[in-house]
Amino acid sequence: MTKIVLSLISIVEGGVTLTSSSQIENESLFLQLRQATAHEHEEIQKFVPLQKVQVSLLEYKNFLCAALGFYRPLELKLYPFMKEQCDWTAKRQRTPLLVTELEWLGLRIDEQPECNLLPPIATPAQAWGCLYVFEGSTLGGKLITRHLRTACSELMQLRETERMPERMQKQKTFLDPYGADTGQMWKEFCHALTLSQKRSNDSTMYAQAVIASALQTFQCFRKWLQQ
Ligand code: HEM
Repeated sequence: MTKIVLSLISIVEGGVTLTSSSQIENESLFLQLRQATAHEHEEIQKFVPLQKVQVSLLEYKNFLCAALGFYRPLELKLYPFMKEQCDWTAKRQRTPLLVTELEWLGLRIDEQPECNLLPPIATPAQAWGCLYVFEGSTLGGKLITRHLRTACSELMQLRETERMPERMQKQKTFLDPYGADTGQMWKEFCHALTLSQKRSNDSTMYAQAVIASALQTFQCFRKWLQQ
């Protein structure tokens, strides 16, 4: 089986480096995923308004509200497929963390709109494609979190003065849900996705379905953020 070295984010406490690499078996699927979604990844970044030099607390809150509107209904659809895979329910669901964080920021969850243009999740391959986008977003999320330390002073002030709920302690947030474990969580995810492909009857068709779903997930999320 071909082994290709994939550059992965290596996370060290207090910092992020993009230079290290990690070897994962059968990562041709990951290479394909990354290549096929590269354009969408670039496009979606245009609608994440958190990379500016100055970010207001309102912009941060608005982004989290939009994320809730997308992640909450989609994670509900993912649940039946993922509940027994890669500790998804226990470790990877973002909605509970998002809800906690938004409440901590003083927002009412029941007032937030929900996206109704979601990618179809009717097969394991579609679920994995969607999860690839969600899990991958923790890599960029870590960089954004680091950027916000200087770009969003209001948020930093709030973190110093307002006690965080238990779920958010150790600085866990929607954007950076795994903290120092980000690299490890990504590796575990890649391993679990690889296994799912191995279990499939036709690995080429399976890869195509995963990629198609990842693309749809990116597109639906972008359209939602664009509104
Ligand atoms: C301003 C916003 C964003 C920035 C700066 C950003 C940045 C990054 C970076 C630096 C990586 C690591 C690439 C590598 O290891 O070579 C990454 C990976 C990834 N990001 Fe983003 N990202 C952003 C938003 C998003 C969003 C909104 C999503 C989807 C919801 C997303 C999905 C992904 C995925 C799926 C990967 C994994 C790519 C792979 O290695 O296969 N990103 N991002």
